[in-house]
Amino acid sequence: MAKILTGIQSTGTPHLGNILGAIIPAIDMANSSNEESYLFIANMHSLTQIKDLNILNENTFSTAATWLSFGLDPNKSCFFRQSDVPEVTELAWYLSCFFPYQRLKLAHSFKDKADNLKDINSGLFSYPMLMSADILLYDANIVPVGKDQLQHLEMTRDVATRFNNLMGDTFVIPEAKIQDDTKYIIGTDGEKMSKSKSNIIDIFQDDKKLRKQIMKIQTQTLSLEEPKDPDECNVFKLFKVISSEEETAKLHLRYTNGGMGYGEAKELLYNQTLNRFSKNRELFFELNANRDKVEQLLSEGALKARKQAQNVLKRVRTRVGF
Ligand code: ADP
Ligand code: TRP
Repeated sequence: MAKILTGIQSTGTPHLGNILGAIIPAIDMANSSNEESYLFIANMHSLTQIKDLNILNENTFSTAATWLSFGLDPNKSCFFRQSDVPEVTELAWYLSCFFPYQRLKLAHSFKDKADNLKDINSGLFSYPMLMSADILLYDANIVPVGKDQLQHLEMTRDVATRFNNLMGDTFVIPEAKIQDDTKYIIGTDGEKMSKSKSNIIDIFQDDKKLRKQIMKIQTQTLSLEEPKDPDECNVFKLFKVISSEEETAKLHLRYTNGGMGYGEAKELLYNQTLNRFSKNRELFFELNANRDKVEQLLSEGALKARKQAQNVLKRVRTRVGF
């Protein structure tokens, strides 16, 4: 049986782009298949960038609550926090000893981060080895990720193959399932929505802050009367990704007819956001008021994950003679 596994870093509360592009597809995939699935919060990876324990824990909570509020079923998927399975760091070490330094030096994501971050620590450099351990520790077959993670997946396959060839068959070779690039959600500035830019929409804020973020969306400067091209408008593009075809067609017409200003379009987007995510927001706020429940779910998930992790690690330890 194929095992599905994916992780998401907890560098902030997941934004609309993360939710539509990664979280919902991963949950749908896990819920709709009979395959075993592992969904986890990569909080050890986040430590490469965040050194404040309160922020780190807050982000872990909000990431967990986001997954849960979008329908992750902890009875169906093994849902856990990376740091609750310390076996992963031991495996990352073994893998590091089987992967050439020169190959790690070629990682795009490290180069990008090294160009943009102040704290260029060695954890950032060996990030792909911890990610490989995340995957190989559970014998995962299918790993849904964004295109930016493809190189990390290639490294995972490479290090697993090298180990298997040198030490004997040990690891399952995983395959990436790449998210469609054309589906990237734009941010309030029209560029790809990203935590690293100030262009995100955080659907779990209070109404007032959410409204403010939506009002910030950049638009052209056409007068209220003028007909507008919806496909050129950031407000319309965002409306479209959270609405039905019928709702989208209705708004399309309002744009092309003229007589609607950008302020009204933003107001419509704001209301649509509240409507579309009302159930998720309610669940999120409920979990926020009941954090022990999230803790308990994560601890239960970690117990299951560790069992599997310990089996694989035992296999690896035998291979390396420990
Ligand atoms: P960010 O760019 O905000 O730092 P991450 O790199 O942590 O986000 O991405 C986490 C997951 O969310 C990845 O699978 C990534 O492909 C997906 N993702 C991030 N931004 C978007 C977006 N704007 N549209 C669709 N998916 C996205
Ligand atoms: N590096 C991934 C990202 O930034 C997160 C991640 C960590 C991951 N470990 C993983 C994704 C294992 C898939 C499998 O999006």
